[in-house]
Amino acid sequence: MTFGDDFQRLSKYSRHTLKGRSLDWENKPPLYKKDPDAELFKLSEPDRKGGQPLYGILQQRRSVRNYSSAAAAEKNLSQILWATQGITSSTAHHQFRAAPSAGGLFPIETYCAINKVEGFKPGIYHYQVPYHALALVKEGAFGLDLAQAALGQKMLRDADFNLVWTAMIERSKWKYEQRAYRYIYLDAGHLAQNAALAAVSCGLGSCQIGAFFDEEANQVIGVDGEWEFVIYMSSFGKPA
Ligand SMILES: Cc1cc2nc3c(=O)[nH]c(=O)nc-3n(C[C@H](O)[C@H](O)[C@H](O)COP(=O)(O)O)c2cc1C
Repeated sequence: MTFGDDFQRLSKYSRHTLKGRSLDWENKPPLYKKDPDAELFKLSEPDRKGGQPLYGILQQRRSVRNYSSAAAAEKNLSQILWATQGITSSTAHHQFRAAPSAGGLFPIETYCAINKVEGFKPGIYHYQVPYHALALVKEGAFGLDLAQAALGQKMLRDADFNLVWTAMIERSKWKYEQRAYRYIYLDAGHLAQNAALAAVSCGLGSCQIGAFFDEEANQVIGVDGEWEFVIYMSSFGKPA
């Protein structure tokens, strides 16, 4: 099978083939996924100025796979979510976020699978970027299901919470067509790295997770796997 090689070749930009084209503004997909019926939990205001100095955090960050049994503080969850996609500036027509995104199209959605965070029931939550809030998708302990979906990696069961990133590919395809598949992974990498660095600043450890059974992960989070599909995860907790 060579579909990976084919994809890389076929999604190249070249001076001979790249043509300008107009964008269909009337059918631009919405930037935010909303569920007006979901129960919404406002997160505490994140620290936008402090934290530990960046270079020290870079020096300290390591993948952590064993976590203590203590629950995470809500303020740490809030800080880490803000570091992924929190809104950091706004103009009349645009809202900019903590991490960059190709074309400002923000195709990645962040879900939080909470195992133990103070003030939250275990469950799957969706990060509502404009409100810095979590919307409850489904209540319950899904840590084990997520661990099984991730090839049995127990850290997802033992973590205080796991962030699961999905791509809503049409948001990016609207502008970039098939090349969008390159960009969603780059976008997700930025989010995960921001989250990993924020975690260190909060005294937590994290591990990035690319190995999972795709359809099982989609099912745990509750996305259809076509319009929206899981592409990356990270687990978070106090190092054991
Ligand atoms: C794209 C990506 C996928 C990864 N997937 C996994 C994974 O599924 N399980 C795991 O234990 N570590 C995973 N890791 C973590 C790497 O193993 C780890 O970053 C690497 O060994 C370097 O160690 P460090 O993170 O401590 O610097 C992943 C890292 C990246 C960037």
